[in-house]
Amino acid sequence: MNQNNIWPKNRICNLFNITHPIIQAGMVWVSGGKLAAAAANTGCLGLIGAGSMQPDVLKQHIIKAKQLTNHSLGVNIPLLYDKTQSQIEVALSAGIKIFFTSAGSPKTWTPILKKEGCIVVHVVSNPELALKCQNAGVDAVVVEGFEAGGHNGRDELTTFVLLQQMRKILNIPVIAAGGIGTGEAILACFALGAEGVQIGTAFAATEESSAHNNFKTAMCQAKFNSTFLRMKKLVPVRLLENEFSKKIALAEDECADKEKLAHLLGKGRAKEGMLNGNLAEGELEVGQIVSEINEILNCNKLVSKIISEYLEAKNKLFLN
Ligand SMILES: Cc1cc2nc3c(=O)[nH]c(=O)nc-3n(C[C@H](O)[C@H](O)[C@H](O)COP(=O)(O)O)c2cc1C
Repeated sequence: MNQNNIWPKNRICNLFNITHPIIQAGMVWVSGGKLAAAAANTGCLGLIGAGSMQPDVLKQHIIKAKQLTNHSLGVNIPLLYDKTQSQIEVALSAGIKIFFTSAGSPKTWTPILKKEGCIVVHVVSNPELALKCQNAGVDAVVVEGFEAGGHNGRDELTTFVLLQQMRKILNIPVIAAGGIGTGEAILACFALGAEGVQIGTAFAATEESSAHNNFKTAMCQAKFNSTFLRMKKLVPVRLLENEFSKKIALAEDECADKEKLAHLLGKGRAKEGMLNGNLAEGELEVGQIVSEINEILNCNKLVSKIISEYLEAKNKLFLN
């Protein structure tokens, strides 16, 4: 089938010059240049997750990705850290024109990036922040439900509810995120007004992801009740259950405060879990959809599978 006939005409494909309205999410320790380029080569938008990278490392990943693909690439920059400004400068000087920002205020960097001729998308977890983003001049928003892996909003809104809230208030395009791992789910998001989807967990488990093999195998073995939202008092994050997350749960049952949680978390736990493969004591960020992942595919196979599911679901709807 002609690739252009698969999807409804939509603003997300036009905005990023991509074939499929699918964004491979920016993810700390997982989405380096190799994954972003592989996703871009399938016709999706590939994002380098800058959150875990010092600026010089980010530059290396951008250079590597550009060697591996001529297709659209962007970076995800959580606006949380001291290194934000240097990361943005490095990405701009390496020719990146697509910025997905998350956490922090959309007002701080959006006008600066727009002046540089960039496309800016901010990640939101509630309608209030979505409106602030629209007012700040972003090109689109990612609306991320609390099914998602990684850091979450505090409001515990699901992807389905968020999409229905967004329809009433936004005129910029919406990218749905959180709990999307199949083509059927994409069809459902489109029915609720999304024009694109951002997929994290399913790409984290691909061959090209830089997640440790132990972590990928653990994702394939995860069940429906393997993830929990933890550390709401500090920074809410959805994690695969392990020894570390059980310790956090216990502390939370005993009403641990922010300081106690920060102490238990310590430093370097996300790297230890996701990159070094310490399944017991590392922080393993995954979304609820991990229950549906049972094999490690390459990006090409993952995207082809999702597109076949999408087309089959769409055809079924039209037949009945
Ligand atoms: C391992 C992992 C790391 C993540 N790191 C980031 C990050 O650095 N910045 C960010 O904005 N979102 C991050 N996220 C969230 C993703 O960008 C994405 O929105 C989310 O994974 C979508 O939900 P899903 O996991 O259900 O597909 C991360 C998610 C995972 C699974």
